[in-house]
Amino acid sequence: MIIKDSIGYFLGLLLTVSPALTVAQPGRPSFPKRPNIQPNPIQPYKAIPLQSQRNPHKVCYVKPGNKGDDAGRIRDALRKCNNGGTVVLDQEYTICTPLDLRFLKHVDIALTGKVEFCTEIEFWQQNLFEFHFQDASSWWVWGGEDVHLYGADTGVIHGNGQSWYDAYAANGTLRRPLLFIADGWHGGSITGLKLRQSPNWHNFIANSSDLLISDIDIFSRSSSSAWASNLDGWDTFRSDNIVIQNSVINHDDDCVSFKPNSTNIIVQGLQCNGSHGISVGSLGNYPYQYDIVSDLYIYNNTMANTTTAARLKVWPGAEAVKRGNPPWVGGGGQGYVRNVTYDTMINDNNNLAIQIDQCYGAINASECLDHPSQVILTDVLFKNIWGTANGADDPVAGQLICGSEDSCDNIRAENVTLTNPSGEPPQWECRYQDEELLDLGGVGCIPA
Ligand SMILES: *[C@@H]1O[C@H](CO)[C@@H](O)[C@H](O)[C@H]1NC(C)=O
Ligand SMILES: *[C@@H]1O[C@H](CO)[C@@H](O)[C@H](O)[C@H]1NC(C)=O
Ligand SMILES: *[C@@H]1O[C@H](CO)[C@@H](O)[C@H](O)[C@H]1NC(C)=O
Ligand SMILES: *[C@@H]1O[C@H](CO)[C@@H](O)[C@H](O)[C@H]1NC(C)=O
Ligand SMILES: *[C@@H]1O[C@H](CO)[C@@H](O)[C@H](O)[C@H]1NC(C)=O
Ligand SMILES: *[C@@H]1O[C@H](CO)[C@@H](O)[C@H](O)[C@H]1NC(C)=O
Ligand SMILES: *[C@@H]1O[C@H](CO)[C@@H](O)[C@H](O)[C@H]1NC(C)=O
Ligand SMILES: *[C@@H]1O[C@H](CO)[C@@H](O)[C@H](O)[C@H]1NC(C)=O
Ligand SMILES: *[C@@H]1O[C@H](CO)[C@@H](O)[C@H](O)[C@H]1NC(C)=O
Repeated sequence: MIIKDSIGYFLGLLLTVSPALTVAQPGRPSFPKRPNIQPNPIQPYKAIPLQSQRNPHKVCYVKPGNKGDDAGRIRDALRKCNNGGTVVLDQEYTICTPLDLRFLKHVDIALTGKVEFCTEIEFWQQNLFEFHFQDASSWWVWGGEDVHLYGADTGVIHGNGQSWYDAYAANGTLRRPLLFIADGWHGGSITGLKLRQSPNWHNFIANSSDLLISDIDIFSRSSSSAWASNLDGWDTFRSDNIVIQNSVINHDDDCVSFKPNSTNIIVQGLQCNGSHGISVGSLGNYPYQYDIVSDLYIYNNTMANTTTAARLKVWPGAEAVKRGNPPWVGGGGQGYVRNVTYDTMINDNNNLAIQIDQCYGAINASECLDHPSQVILTDVLFKNIWGTANGADDPVAGQLICGSEDSCDNIRAENVTLTNPSGEPPQWECRYQDEELLDLGGVGCIPA
């Protein structure tokens, strides 16, 4: 079966118009082959399965309805071509009803057209997939085994976010769907897609492993006075061995955020504009939970117009009511962050280049000093970090704030060379740091 499929595969290649790039179907449109994108240059600890072959005769083209709901057609095609085939989405589709795609197995999806979502906000309120973690919800959920989704640099997933930004400005209790959720996706890739106008986080990668995400182009901005808030690029959760690379992200909020139980994650070659940085956390938010983030390598990312570029945010050790209406409540969780490296980060017009905040959400310093975080930070390294701050906190270029002597260990900085617009040497606000391990440039640590 495997041999027959691969012979078929090579025959398919002989028929292609442009052999390297497309698969031809006699009498049917050709479609681009899955691109050969590899993790580069940092390699994951465990190889991501990227070589699986597909049967070139098992191809399902999805014909869109006339502006109706295409969810059923897409689901049917994926059922039919699951287990060895390719589904081609090369036209314009609209999804108006929930789409559960967690059954995928050994399948490719060539999304070279456009998928957008109906803006029936009232309908979606009652029909989103809902998850317990941070009220995450979405109109579709992806998952399975050995699944490759590729857009060949033309595919678009469009969230029609403007309707949601405007509606949310008028009603803050509205649930806003995440543009894309992977829930239990083991092995495969997501590449070459444009993600546009997400109502909420762009990507939530949960319960997943062994994935390569590459060549994604994200752009979401509000054109009205309503703020497009909480538009994280990627959030990882309960996931292992994920590579996110070579992408451009234009939005607000975290560019990438590592939520609880994110392990062995590489983030490289991103260009993030206008974000809150590449962030660990927040962790320790809930008293009954144990949060783990470990073995991250964050390499060669350019951060422009951000509040903070490299960030770790951890709640204090006791649950407390914060400001706000409804009040913001958090803290008291346990866990650890271990072996996190930020290597080569270019700063362009950011408030802070580095921020460790182990007092995240604390109302005042004494709340955090009285209840130091129980999420312990160890083996965190910042190296080869350079560029220019925007002057917002001039001459302060960063903060390294731990909750106590015991809640942080082996926090190091090497070859950090920030410059301030004022020309003043950078200052770093530190609390409970071992200053001998911190080569931060400028005047180094000052008390926070
Ligand atoms: C806000 O949206 C929620 C969810 O749809 C709804 O239950 C509530 O009635 C809305 N509130 C107002 C004032 O419209
Ligand atoms: C992940 O797995 C857990 C445990 O099975 C489940 O409760 C949760 O709904 C799953 N998905 C997300 C997005 O958390
Ligand atoms: C994270 O992993 C720890 C240790 O296995 C476990 O106790 C905790 O429940 C996990 N958290 C989540 C959100 O799955
Ligand atoms: C760093 O990332 C940029 C894209 O932002 C890429 O062009 C460059 O080749 C990368 N450099 C290395 C050494 O990986
Ligand atoms: C970066 O974001 C700013 C807004 O913060 C925007 O004005 C600018 O056009 C963006 N840059 C690019 C290259 O899109
Ligand atoms: C730290 O994490 C990196 C990146 O995942 C990994 O290559 C390295 O082996 C880890 N180091 C230790 C001591 O576990
Ligand atoms: C940063 O934002 C300014 C405008 O606010 C914009 O001109 C510039 O292009 C942005 N930088 C990048 C790298 O996008
Ligand atoms: C810190 O905030 C807590 C809670 O509002 C308050 O009880 C305490 O007096 C504050 N401490 C200082 C030093 O302001
Ligand atoms: C310091 O960082 C800069 C910028 O990332 C890099 O070009 C340089 O090689 C680094 N120096 C050392 C000694 O590693």
